[in-house]
Amino acid sequence: MYPLQLLTASALALATMTPLAASAQAATSIPGYTYGQKSLARAPYTLQDLESLKKAMLLSDEDLRYLRMSKAILADQTEAILDVWYGFVASTPELVVFFKNNKTGAPDGAYLSAVRKRFGQWILDTADANYDQAWLDYQYEIGLRHTSPKKNKTDKADSVPSVNFRYLSALTIPITTTLKPFLAKKGASAADVEKMHAAWVKSVLMQSILWSYPYVRDGRF
Ligand code: HEM
Repeated sequence: MYPLQLLTASALALATMTPLAASAQAATSIPGYTYGQKSLARAPYTLQDLESLKKAMLLSDEDLRYLRMSKAILADQTEAILDVWYGFVASTPELVVFFKNNKTGAPDGAYLSAVRKRFGQWILDTADANYDQAWLDYQYEIGLRHTSPKKNKTDKADSVPSVNFRYLSALTIPITTTLKPFLAKKGASAADVEKMHAAWVKSVLMQSILWSYPYVRDGRF
């Protein structure tokens, strides 16, 4: 068994701050988290492309309101959520293979742990739903980080070069299904939990679509 439960991050500390302070703090304290930094390449798709994509998947302003409502509910639960998500990856050989160390063939604990810190911040960023150019540029970066040549670079991991694309969209389902009980834990009405969950499904799917860019042949994104 891999020590995934021990791969805790600093998100608990972040959860006690205001959302703005948490983002500012995260930008400086999470290794490899480069959201908003000038060094990032500009996304090859535009904010107008994003509007069209939102329209095509019925992601409405109401969905954005429900994503933002989820932030206060999820902020102090990110470690527990990550335990569930990492537990799923760890117990699914088809997925954990993308974190394996090339030399030992075993999952690379340091790599898993480093990614986990940014994953915790991603929960908060997804709930923020602040779709500006900086967010779009980081979407492009996250897509690159799932593929060669950027996978492994941020954490200097010696692991497989790319995550197979089919699993990116597939993971929308376990990620959002297992999130639902956490959305329900703070007394929101059943109707609000449904709406927050639906908004999360759309947002996660939309992000995996944006991350597909490096996988899709030129001009066909
Ligand atoms: C909806 C699906 C997925 C979501 C929401 C997601 C989310 C994330 C996030 C937030 C990061 C960190 C990005 C950063 O550096 O700031 C990341 C990195 C990573 N994810 Fe995913 N991911 C998904 C699918 C997958 C799948 C299916 C795998 C296969 C196990 C995977 C493996 C990885 C790996 C190996 C990294 C580290 C990449 C690197 O070397 O920088 N992801 N993911």
